[in-house]
Amino acid sequence: MDIRRVGVLGCGLMGSGIAQVAATAGYDVVVLEQDQKFLDKGFTSIDKSLGRLVERGVGKGGITPEQKKDAQSRLKGTTNALDLAHCDILVEAIIENVAEKRKAYAQLDSIVKKDCIFATNTSSISVTELMTATERPARFLGLHFFNPVPIMKLVEVVRTIATADDAFNAAVEFGKKLGKVPVRTVDKPGFIVNRLLVPYLLDAIRAYEEGVGSIPDIDEAMKLGCGYPMGPFTLLDFVGLDTTYYITAVMFDEFKEQRFASPALLKRLVLAGWYGRKSGKGFYDYADPNNPVAGKFV
Ligand code: CAA
Ligand code: NAD
Repeated sequence: MDIRRVGVLGCGLMGSGIAQVAATAGYDVVVLEQDQKFLDKGFTSIDKSLGRLVERGVGKGGITPEQKKDAQSRLKGTTNALDLAHCDILVEAIIENVAEKRKAYAQLDSIVKKDCIFATNTSSISVTELMTATERPARFLGLHFFNPVPIMKLVEVVRTIATADDAFNAAVEFGKKLGKVPVRTVDKPGFIVNRLLVPYLLDAIRAYEEGVGSIPDIDEAMKLGCGYPMGPFTLLDFVGLDTTYYITAVMFDEFKEQRFASPALLKRLVLAGWYGRKSGKGFYDYADPNNPVAGKFV
């Protein structure tokens, strides 16, 4: 299974990062979005991210200006699904919603060549539940990247009971070619990281609601006390409160356990459209991105 052409579905926080990393690794990449404005936004993020890597310098894990130019020359954005027809692997990174993902897979299944591997970047949805929207169960799996994709080394490779060995092994090798460290896992809610991370993030919100500390103090405590690069509220705003809320709904539905239930505060922020960094306001207000101001909600 020779992967040469990569398709990416969605050019948001994750899709743009996945497309960038694949193009930087030398693949020709076609990114499909539902509207040109999302492509423009995603390609602007890619340009900014590549610029940061150029500034970083090759010696510190960055790239040269020529590599930036080469990567961008391999990236093609489109709103026409037919442009994905010849991909060898399609990595999907659209909204964390079962119906939306299944609808997209059903449409693409008849367009994309039969031996193309479908790889979902879902955080929590059953890969098997998405697979059944297609006629390619043996070539359907999860490739779960981490935010920000250009920096985080991990990719979780998720197999279902139907994933064929050759497709799974090709996906593992693809992850390595992208410069990631693949870990192998199976189709269980949250796979490895989110099975552990989501309860921690939700408990941070519950602890705040219980009055244990302010949002900045809880963030500072976990950074200085546990060496985390971001505190939980900064991370929640970074991941996106909308995506986090969708993840909690999926995981609570599977486990029916309180620790996966969305705290009331998270739901209200999402209902208000306060999605975190992506919308300019979440647990923090990013009016001045260099000086986020924490909200007071309780
Ligand atoms: N593109 C390119 N370069 C980037 C970048 C990006 N998107 N983000 C950061 N960098 C670079 C910066 O340019 C900087 O380089 P220099 O050292 O040369 O200045 C370096 O990375 C460090 O960045 P920052 O100075 O901005 O800040 P930092 O040291 O805190 O690193 C971070 C930023 C890597 C995001 C770090 O804060 C971190 O690791 N945070 C935790 C992220 C995390 O937990 N991710 C997983 C979320 S859960 C998930 O993804 C799964 C899910 O399903 C929800
Ligand atoms: P996002 O909201 O930033 O981006 C989603 C993108 O999908 C949007 O640009 C939207 O226009 C596009 N989209 C929606 N429906 C589409 C369709 N039918 N066709 C083409 N494009 C469509 O979301 P995100 O944070 O990038 O998350 C995307 C996926 O990645 C989700 O499944 C999420 O759980 C997962 N994920 C997110 C993170 C994170 O930290 N945000 C980390 C790992 C995995």
